[in-house]
Amino acid sequence: MADKKKLLILPGDGIGPEVMRQVKRIIDWLDRKRGITFDVQEGLVGGISIDHHGVPLTDATLEMAKNVDAILLGAVGGPKWDGVAFEQRPEAGLLGLRKELGLFANLRPAVVFDALVESSTLKADVIRGLNILIVRELTGGVYFGEPRGIETLPDGSRRGVNTQVYTTAEIHRVARVAFELARKRQNKVCSVEKANVMESGLLWRQEVTALRDAEFPDVELSHMYADNCAMQLLKNPRQFDVIVTDNLFGDILSDEAAMITGSLGMLPSASLGLADAQGVRKAMYEPVHGSAPDIAGRDLANPIATLLSFAMALRYSFDHTTEADLIESAVKSVLNSGTRTADIMAPGMARCSTTVMGDSIVRSLDKLAV
Ligand code: IPM
Ligand code: MG
Repeated sequence: MADKKKLLILPGDGIGPEVMRQVKRIIDWLDRKRGITFDVQEGLVGGISIDHHGVPLTDATLEMAKNVDAILLGAVGGPKWDGVAFEQRPEAGLLGLRKELGLFANLRPAVVFDALVESSTLKADVIRGLNILIVRELTGGVYFGEPRGIETLPDGSRRGVNTQVYTTAEIHRVARVAFELARKRQNKVCSVEKANVMESGLLWRQEVTALRDAEFPDVELSHMYADNCAMQLLKNPRQFDVIVTDNLFGDILSDEAAMITGSLGMLPSASLGLADAQGVRKAMYEPVHGSAPDIAGRDLANPIATLLSFAMALRYSFDHTTEADLIESAVKSVLNSGTRTADIMAPGMARCSTTVMGDSIVRSLDKLAV
């Protein structure tokens, strides 16, 4: 039976469209080979939306986003829009989607594939087998806190202000996601803030502890200051299972965790909202990497992070676990065969383009699915 779930594709800017092209091939493959058909819509977000409509996120795109089962986003931003007013930058389109859809929990897994152990700048012994999950708060904190802005003082100098702010409810809902996911993994959560310097961090620590005591007494909870966490990720990343942290620390630590695995080009993410009465969450899936304007349009980018983001969509939003597993296996087998985009290239491997990586993964799917 064809299943017509709605998927909105927002390729965005830079390498977004070219990596998304490879996802579309997998969507076609699912349709042809597995009888899984999506109702696919496409829209503009970020710089490309500014170019066409003057704003990074139109009401029409937002409306589409609110009415689909999942969104798959490429990347936004680039030097072309550097001069644009702050609230109208490409990034504001992405932040608007997150906020308007209430996507407060950002899941960023950092997994080291055996075939890529040598691609990391860290020693193989330190990272082999790494599998951690960063749960980043995504709709609060300093990204959205008020007051904010740049003002001119009486003496003509200027003052820039942003506000870090969190409430009990905001902390509980994201920590709850972290605890629930930990139960399906190694049952360990490390909560990260700067409770030694920031009141909002102290509140974070207290509220996470209170929630654990009340609802998750079986889950092991530890606390760490963000600076120490940044250091521990490099020293001994395997000590972690699930890390839960605020919007800004999560932004920084997830880039660090991604790089431990060898390349930003490998890491997917899911951004989830609250579950409705049917247990269904609003969801957007996107690679952790950015728009990489330096290599955009040259068929060089690694499409794997976006393909794995689509696999996460299959798993979390569409209940197609078998196909999500298939995509992940296909990626592993292509990496094992030595096919590599430039970002994960290693001596003795075969360097390939974005398109050839897509070809290889589709071929591998054909083999695995018989
Ligand atoms: C990310 C990105 C975004 C963020 C930018 C593009 C606004 O770095 O998703 O990690 O800071 O959240
Ligand atoms: Mg980031």
